[in-house]
Amino acid sequence: MAAISFDPSASFAAEMDRRDPLAPFREQFHIPPGPDGSPSIYLCGHSLGLQPKRAHEYIEQELEDWATLGVEAHFHGRHPWMPYHRLLTNNMAGLIGADPLEVVLMNSLTVNLHLMMVSFYRPTPQRYKIVVEASAFPSDQYAFASQLHFHGFDPATALIELTPRAGEATIRQDDIHALLEREGPSIALILLGGVNYATGQLFDMEAITRMGHAQGCVVGFDLAHAAGNVPLRLHEWDVDFAVWCTYKYLNGGPGCVGGCFVHERFASAWDLPRFAGWWGHDQASRFLMGPDFQPMPGAEGWQLSNPSIMSMAPLRASLEIFADAGMQQLRNKSESLTGYLEFLLDQDKSSKFTIITPREPERRGAQLSIRIHQGGRAVCDRLIGEGILCDWREPDILRVAPVPLYNTYSDVHRFAERFLAALS
Ligand SMILES: Cc1ncc(COP(=O)(O)O)c(C=O)c1O
Repeated sequence: MAAISFDPSASFAAEMDRRDPLAPFREQFHIPPGPDGSPSIYLCGHSLGLQPKRAHEYIEQELEDWATLGVEAHFHGRHPWMPYHRLLTNNMAGLIGADPLEVVLMNSLTVNLHLMMVSFYRPTPQRYKIVVEASAFPSDQYAFASQLHFHGFDPATALIELTPRAGEATIRQDDIHALLEREGPSIALILLGGVNYATGQLFDMEAITRMGHAQGCVVGFDLAHAAGNVPLRLHEWDVDFAVWCTYKYLNGGPGCVGGCFVHERFASAWDLPRFAGWWGHDQASRFLMGPDFQPMPGAEGWQLSNPSIMSMAPLRASLEIFADAGMQQLRNKSESLTGYLEFLLDQDKSSKFTIITPREPERRGAQLSIRIHQGGRAVCDRLIGEGILCDWREPDILRVAPVPLYNTYSDVHRFAERFLAALS
């Protein structure tokens, strides 16, 4: 992308908004009102994405079909519930760079992480360690520790945590490489976040997968903060499996159904151990209700239960918007918006805060994490009181995500102005 030379004036932001080809997409979302009734500055898409206006209509359709057809809507609704999840598969697969066979929407993130570890964490006495980020999201840490205990290993010796070097906030690619070279034969699984939830660091998933495979390890990713944020090419990168949630950048709504990717080479790996449920059973014979489990080919073979239609309906609306906007166009705007935020914050020379997210656009997504050296919580509360929504992660990090689908350059300008005012 061509470098843009930014300017700190509000009129520059307004001009950028006028020229933004993606600006009309904002109209397709509900922007929550701030305390004075005007639209808030919503910079929390890394936590809960905004509601697509069409979500209401899509849920309403299913409520109507339920009311008028009852159980018959499974097969005879306007969008029959039996294959409803497939209405989302192609768009979801496109966003993560996968073949539709490799993708399924089911359960929620932590559940899917466990299901994937049942199949892909196959420790032996020699190869049993799991490589993770030291600052992985707590739910992932609990999942790793409980899986290790389940297999009779002690996390104190079987979990290898990647940490930033002293005085640094993010993990160096060279250090990942060196660790894999050193410990490779003892590592069963590498499981990192595609984008770290706290620092916003985007990992080079392709290189990590290549290095991991060269050492004989399985490589999976938690894409909670990457899906819908950065372009992904999971199939081409040869990633073994991935899981993600859909309520952040993907705007599926609170607690929305999770996503799961299983590489095509495991599509017919019937010998792979897995936990089974009837929805993963071969579709053609599912309703014969036989006693023997025959999984569906591909990622759908990991399904357990029939999924929540009401949860998938808003996600369907959001994925359609992504398909219209195009992930690469969104990424172009995202790099520009985040770069603009960084530029405005860099105008301040007070040393009251440090941006800990990597400075290189290819090492981050839409989020900047700002370490505030003193009184940060009060700054965050003050901003929220003014209708500027970002979030706080203890002990000292303000996370701010300008989301290209619905945020504007003027949002970013306003945030920077009020943030710097709150700091002083
Ligand atoms: C990186 C990461 N992993 C896991 C989770 C847990 O997700 P869930 O509650 O959908 O299982 C989250 C939730 O925000 C997350 O950010």
